[in-house]
Order: sequence, then C-alpha cells, then structure tokens
Amino acid sequence: MADPVANTGSTATTPDGGVDNLIQVENLEVRFYTQVGVVRALNGVDFNIPRGQVLGVVGESGSGKSITGLSIMQLVPRPGRVEGGRILYKDKPDSKTINILDLGRQSDEMRAIRGDDIGMIFQEPMTSLNPVFKVGAQIQEAILLHQTPNKQEAWDRAVDILDKVGMPNARRVANSYPHELSGGMRQRAMIAMALSCSPNLLIADEPTTALDVTTEAQILSLMRDLQSEIGTSIMFITHNMGVVAQMCDEVAVMYLGRIVERATVDDIFYDPKHPYTISLLRSIPRLGQKRGQRLEVIKGGVPDPYSTVTGCPFHPRCPSFMPGLCDTVLPIEAFIEGKTNHTVRCHLYPGCTPDSDQAVTGVSGTIPTTSKAQ
Ligand SMILES: Nc1ncnc2c1ncn2[C@@H]1O[C@H](COP(=O)(O)OP(=O)(O)O)[C@@H](O)[C@H]1O
Ligand SMILES: [Mg+2]
Repeated sequence: MADPVANTGSTATTPDGGVDNLIQVENLEVRFYTQVGVVRALNGVDFNIPRGQVLGVVGESGSGKSITGLSIMQLVPRPGRVEGGRILYKDKPDSKTINILDLGRQSDEMRAIRGDDIGMIFQEPMTSLNPVFKVGAQIQEAILLHQTPNKQEAWDRAVDILDKVGMPNARRVANSYPHELSGGMRQRAMIAMALSCSPNLLIADEPTTALDVTTEAQILSLMRDLQSEIGTSIMFITHNMGVVAQMCDEVAVMYLGRIVERATVDDIFYDPKHPYTISLLRSIPRLGQKRGQRLEVIKGGVPDPYSTVTGCPFHPRCPSFMPGLCDTVLPIEAFIEGKTNHTVRCHLYPGCTPDSDQAVTGVSGTIPTTSKAQ
C-alpha cells in the first residue's frame, strides 16, 4: 500500500501510529465518451477519509463531486468509465486493504460492499426509494439482505431506525408509501435506509439541497448525531459552504475534476489559500445581510465541459491571474509551508510550480474529439 496522504488532521491511527484511512483514493481518472467529445470528469483525484471522520467535498456544479462518490460505489453511469487510479478500502483497522476497482462492478463482493459497508444518499430521495413498496418494507428488505433472516426482527429494526432518524410516528410511516410523505420525511426515510446496515462509510450527495432551511438544519444535526453515535465516516458532498461548517472535519475543494485545496474545516474557513476557495467563501450568505442583497458570486461560469483550458483550469476566472504562468503551466499539489495537513494547487504558493523540465501543460475538464454539436 502506498503511503497515506499526509494531509489529514485525523486522530484515527493504526496500531503502528499511521493514519487509519477507511478510504484512500489515488489518482482517480474518469472520462465520459459522448457522441460530441470526451468529458474528462476526474483528472487525477487524490484524497483520504480517516475512519470516523466527515470529509466535505465542495465545489460548483460540474466539478466532479458526484462522479467521485459514484466511483467509490462503482456506479459511474455510462458512457462514463473509470480509466485510472485506485480506491483503497479497509473494512477494519487491522483488515486487509482492497482496491475496490479490482472488484467486478456486478460481483458479489461489490454488491456486499454497496449494501453493507458503504451507503449512499442523494438529493432526490426517489432515486433510492421505490415508489411501489411501503417505506418500512424497503428498509426491512435491506436488513434481511445483510443482517438477519428473521422478518419480524427486520421489521422491528426498520421501525426503530425510522424512529431514530426523527420520524414522527415511525410505525405509521413504515406502513406508508413514499409519495404519502413530505420531502423532508422522504429524505429521513432514505437516510434511515442508508443507515439501516450501519455502514462504515456514508456518501451523502447534496442530501439536503432540496429542503427548506428548517428541515435541512434538523437533518444535518441528525446526521451528525448518528455519525458520532455509530462512528460512520461520511463523505459529505455539497456546494454550500455553510453546510460544510456545520458538518465536516476536513474539506476537499474541487474544481473541474481536481482537488485544488484540502485542509481542516478551520483552515478552510479562517486561512483559505486557493483563490477559488476564497471566492466560494465570499458567496456564503451572511447573518445580517439585507434581504434581497446580492451575494458576491464568482466571476464567470464553470467552462463548458467540452472546452479546453491550458494551465490552471481556474485562471480565466481568477482574481490573482498571473499571465504567462497560470495560463500555461498546470500547478501541482503542494503543502502549505509549516502545515502537514493543508495542501493547495496554485502558482501563488511555493512548491506548486513544477520545475520547467517537469512542467506539463494543464488541460482542464475535457479533450474534445469532435467539434461540439450546436
Ligand atoms: N452522464 C454523463 N454524460 C456526460 N458527462 C457527464 C455525465 N455525468 C457527469 N458528466 C460530466 O462529469 C463532470 C462532473 O460531473 P458531476 O460529478 O456530476 O459534477 P458535480 O456533482 O460536482 O456537479 C461534469 O463535467 C459533467 O458534465
Ligand atoms: Mg452532483
């Protein structure tokens, strides 16, 4: 196994004192081969999730957050393909490390990992809930598959877990169909389903984006409570920095298929380094801000996924753009001086500009193979 990435502020350690990573993603590359070109959705993504920790993954739409989560589950949709990298997974601190990408997508081992070890919840609960079965029956099914063959016991556990996720009148909800529930209740039902097998890792992909702020706050505090109680690690995907502040221990900031900054939640908020992170933070609504007052938004938009950008992918929007460097050379990842758990990819910082003989011209999200259809 390669050395753990050192950029973690985790206290989870292995018996020999190393970082106890539940998941370690190395150099992950994902491409979509579409009729109009190749989308380079992930361009060498590296990160680790220490056991028991919450890692926030943030970035604007299109930065590769969902595809990163789906890669861990081996659920990247066609025409997407994982083309490189490793996803190392260690069930328990002393168990053998496996590379998830070595398992067949439909293999028994992969199915067992999906149901039992790693759970995923999405923005839209109906992606996981089946409209034709009662909510309780769906959770019972998951428990029967992975935990106990006893139907009554599985049903009781399903009701229990619905109760635990703060569902009022859990027994009645268990006997309801998903369409009979409100959005917030469906979201709770999906969380209950994902947690029913006490997964080692929960991948939560914008789980509260569609909810009103009160329900969002309730669900976030619920997830945080369950996380500390069960010890589940969470990969929390969001484009909302406010949510990150409430939920996460560490944060990975993504832009166009790369992690551009990685640090503890405190460093991201109080000592952000990458101009993109700084821009994201400026777009958080603040207390006391007058209603209707415009938020500061980041200049420009995320480039069209079929276009190409040389150098740093953020340079066309960057307030600190340095012509001749940022638009020609791709910055490499380096530690912030004096920090062992804070990395950045930006030419403003020492170590990020490769020596001229190792410099590669950066290509952002994509390599078009044909001109884009109009
Ligand atoms: N089914 C698909 N076909 C083609 N491109 C896709 C598909 N799904 C995702 N992508 C591309 O992959 C990139 C990353 O997408 P995604 O992970 O969904 O971003 P995020 O979750 O950060 O909004 C985007 O450029 C997107 O256009
Ligand atoms: Mg997404």
